[in-house]
Amino acid sequence: MPDTPANTSEPTSDHPPADRSESDETFVVTPYAVSGEVDYGRLLERFGADPLTDAQVARFPDHPLVRRRTFYAGRDVDRYLEAAESGEPHAIVTGRGPSGPMHLGHVPPLYLAKRFQEATGATVYLPLSDDEKFLAKDQSFASIGEHTRENLRDILAVGFDPEKTRIVIDTADADVVYPIAVRLANHLTPATVEAVYGETDTVGLQFYPAVQATHLLLPQLVDGRQPTLVPIAVDQDPHVRVCRDVASKEALPVAKPGALLGRFLPGLEGPGKMSTSGDTPSIELTDGPETVAETIRRHAYTGGQATLEEHREKGGDPTVDVPFQYLRYFFEPDDDRLAELAADYRSGTVLSGELKALAIDRITDFLTDHQRRRDALGELASELEPYRLTAGERRRALEAAGVPARVE
Ligand code: TRP
Repeated sequence: MPDTPANTSEPTSDHPPADRSESDETFVVTPYAVSGEVDYGRLLERFGADPLTDAQVARFPDHPLVRRRTFYAGRDVDRYLEAAESGEPHAIVTGRGPSGPMHLGHVPPLYLAKRFQEATGATVYLPLSDDEKFLAKDQSFASIGEHTRENLRDILAVGFDPEKTRIVIDTADADVVYPIAVRLANHLTPATVEAVYGETDTVGLQFYPAVQATHLLLPQLVDGRQPTLVPIAVDQDPHVRVCRDVASKEALPVAKPGALLGRFLPGLEGPGKMSTSGDTPSIELTDGPETVAETIRRHAYTGGQATLEEHREKGGDPTVDVPFQYLRYFFEPDDDRLAELAADYRSGTVLSGELKALAIDRITDFLTDHQRRRDALGELASELEPYRLTAGERRRALEAAGVPARVE
């Protein structure tokens, strides 16, 4: 069902109550800050997104990340599913903020997008927000540029179909991104930005939501109105919300993008978000087998007991055990095997060290494949070329957005 281009009245929940008092917030989730213990259910109420229904889960191309509800909520999921099922055009946008090396926590949306592309032919857009990370992370442009190039290799290694995939880099594709962002920024007030993101340090970051809104509309501006889904960790939902809001205020030929929202992969130190900023190391996509083994053995939080005897007697808790959680999120595809492991861990038959060993095995297998594809890449610019927007696509996007063409 198409959106009307302008002033669609929004029946669902894009506008959650704004008057919730600060004092009852025990956790914070914005694109720029995640802290406290995240209550994923409460968060949906706060953001105004919907939990996935069993029927929706069953309709997605089968993948452990959806089946096990790591991706657990969304917006406008049905429209996307209808298009995917009926073979009509449909798109996915998921991106990367190139502020450092990519680690395991960055993998789920990318590999999920790849799976959806293979299963139903989704067009996939992958924006890299080097502008955002320059503004947010206190790094030089040179340093962000270096991370951008390294991250691009990881993204290319996923193996997206170049015919159906576009990679966009904000500062390198500014000819397209900037004019559209300006048009959208016309509806972005400082009050909205502050309500959605909290206080920002600079006016640059105040403008950035217009850039990410542009990313989310690009597939439709290039190829025409179509259901678009944004699979991403839940901290990025505010960007989707803002995009839906500003898009409906301009007569653009686009439907509001939907979202597929994921929980955070826990950090090695235990429940929470895997991050590069804390003290505990994370597992980077370029780590070799020994580093992976060493990092997990030394740093992974376990749900086991202090001594072997106690463990045999009382058993462990897989729900907080990080190696088990990694297996559950992504790395053990077999549901029966996983259930068996959980039961045996609870009963004390399986030890923490055994779960660690299995996680090390699976993660190493995954990374070995990823790194084989990464290492096989040639020079970056030529590898990237087939994924860049063509001249025609750039023109189409600018025309569809009604922004003045460049002087040529
Ligand atoms: N802002 C995202 C981050 O910090 C990266 C990103 C840019 C993105 N554009 C996007 C994510 C579009 C999803 C969709 O990680």
